[in-house]
Amino acid sequence: MSEQNVAQDLAKLDADRQRIEQIHMRDMFRNDPQRFKKFSLCAGELFLDYSKNRIDEKSLASLFDLARTSGVETLRDQMWSGEHINSTEDRAVMHMALRHQGNDQRIVDGENISAPIRKVLAAMRAYATSLRSGEINGSTGKKITDVVNIGIGGSDLGPAMVVRALSPFVSEIKPHFVSNVDGSDIADTLNGLNPETTLFIVASKTFTTDETMTNANSARKWLSAALGDAAVGDHFVAVSTNLAACASFGIQQDRIFGFWDWVGGRYSVWSAIGLSVMLAIGADHFDDFLIGAAELDQHFLTAPLEQNMPVIMGLLGVWYRNAFDFSTHAVLPYDERLGRFAAYLQQQDMESNGKSVQRDGTSVNYATGPIVWGEPGTNGQHAFYQLIHQGTDVIPVDFLLAAQGEEDYPVHHEKLVANCFAQSEALMLGKTIEQVTEELHGAGVSSEAIKELAPHKVFPGNRPSNTILYKKLTPKTLGSLIALYEHKVFVQGAIWNVNSYDQWGVELGKQLAKALLPKVQGHEAATAHDCSTQGLLQRFQSLR
Ligand code: F6P
Repeated sequence: MSEQNVAQDLAKLDADRQRIEQIHMRDMFRNDPQRFKKFSLCAGELFLDYSKNRIDEKSLASLFDLARTSGVETLRDQMWSGEHINSTEDRAVMHMALRHQGNDQRIVDGENISAPIRKVLAAMRAYATSLRSGEINGSTGKKITDVVNIGIGGSDLGPAMVVRALSPFVSEIKPHFVSNVDGSDIADTLNGLNPETTLFIVASKTFTTDETMTNANSARKWLSAALGDAAVGDHFVAVSTNLAACASFGIQQDRIFGFWDWVGGRYSVWSAIGLSVMLAIGADHFDDFLIGAAELDQHFLTAPLEQNMPVIMGLLGVWYRNAFDFSTHAVLPYDERLGRFAAYLQQQDMESNGKSVQRDGTSVNYATGPIVWGEPGTNGQHAFYQLIHQGTDVIPVDFLLAAQGEEDYPVHHEKLVANCFAQSEALMLGKTIEQVTEELHGAGVSSEAIKELAPHKVFPGNRPSNTILYKKLTPKTLGSLIALYEHKVFVQGAIWNVNSYDQWGVELGKQLAKALLPKVQGHEAATAHDCSTQGLLQRFQSLR
């Protein structure tokens, strides 16, 4: 990566921002009927319309310059060649290799990782196929009908989001997910399940995560109480990089599916962490999921920056975060089955780029990762869209939409599409005081009432959005969609010069919780804390 002064490079965007702020987007559209054609592109099965952004050709050129001077392409190539770009953990970042479709070797630390990747994938396929067909059964010979994935963060959010998104492809086995250490999560999940027909996947990269091990031990107790401890081998599998810890939990050797330290937790759904997905949708659909991601990888690796979808999305994010100081980014799928997509992206984006130091440890003096949030439309329209349209914060939005619904409810889908397009149009156009006044006049409202009411009915418009359109939400499309956002996050991390692949910010809370536990349990005195924490502990003890 090139030596850089990020703040200086970002400051160069200011002249563009000042120019762009003079023009409302509705005028940009009025002045240029080619805008949609100019600012839209395809990558595999995804189509991106980014014309409803506060951009012109000149500002985009500056953004592409920024990508070049920041060394986005160099870092991308270093990542793909297996260099340890995750410097603080001294690791390569090779999740793309998990879905790579070519026969070429991928070398990490002198070893060809393609062979072990294929080996684990084949073992997953063999196991999934046998379990789904009833060739492998539970300890009493009954077919496994329910699978409970126990994991948290990247060992939960990816698979849970994906099986919900692909629910029309789920057959044979019903997937469940337990992540929270809150006992209600496991209790509600186990309630109604039959131990004889239930399989648990303990999914944890480290196999030490407290929430996961606590849930795994409770699940084991539940199963042993019903079927005896000897049944554990038939009802538990593990997915981890810590093979020794899986074995000491009592998991059979051939039921441990490994992965590697060069797969970050939030980038691991493509690895054996996706076992619950494969069990639910079958190995062939899982292959399609990988193929979709690989298609986007090829695009990211080879398309020129100016025609590179994740690069464009990443740059637009930097444009708004740094030149305009917009602090949040909403992802609004008009696709109910993507109901967990925003939650998934929160980890992918915020755990990756929520950083305040550069790669060399010096503090940043510019904004980095935005707050990512969202909910499916049309529900969001009846909740928080008020603020998006008329609030004091400008929130850049991604709309996600399938041209075809899975179900035979055509009118529903047409209405969904109309709503999605209407929202991006409304955000861009807004409604002027003149339009409001005219409308109210037309409706016969008195001049006096119009004067009072009109300001409330004005929409500023000029609010940016991307629309990502795809034919249908299939395993392949979903693979592409996730990879698109992974690479977008990469591009932004490269520009902000942060390490997008570590997550030290999650450690302090874990450390303090460990120290607090004996005090919560009443084994140690509630001392040596600030008066708030101490007071809360005492109050808690008095309420137990
Ligand atoms: O606490 C954060 C984190 O380390 C995530 O990065 C990770 O996805 C999650 O915990 C779960 O970790 P593991 O898979 O090791 O249980």
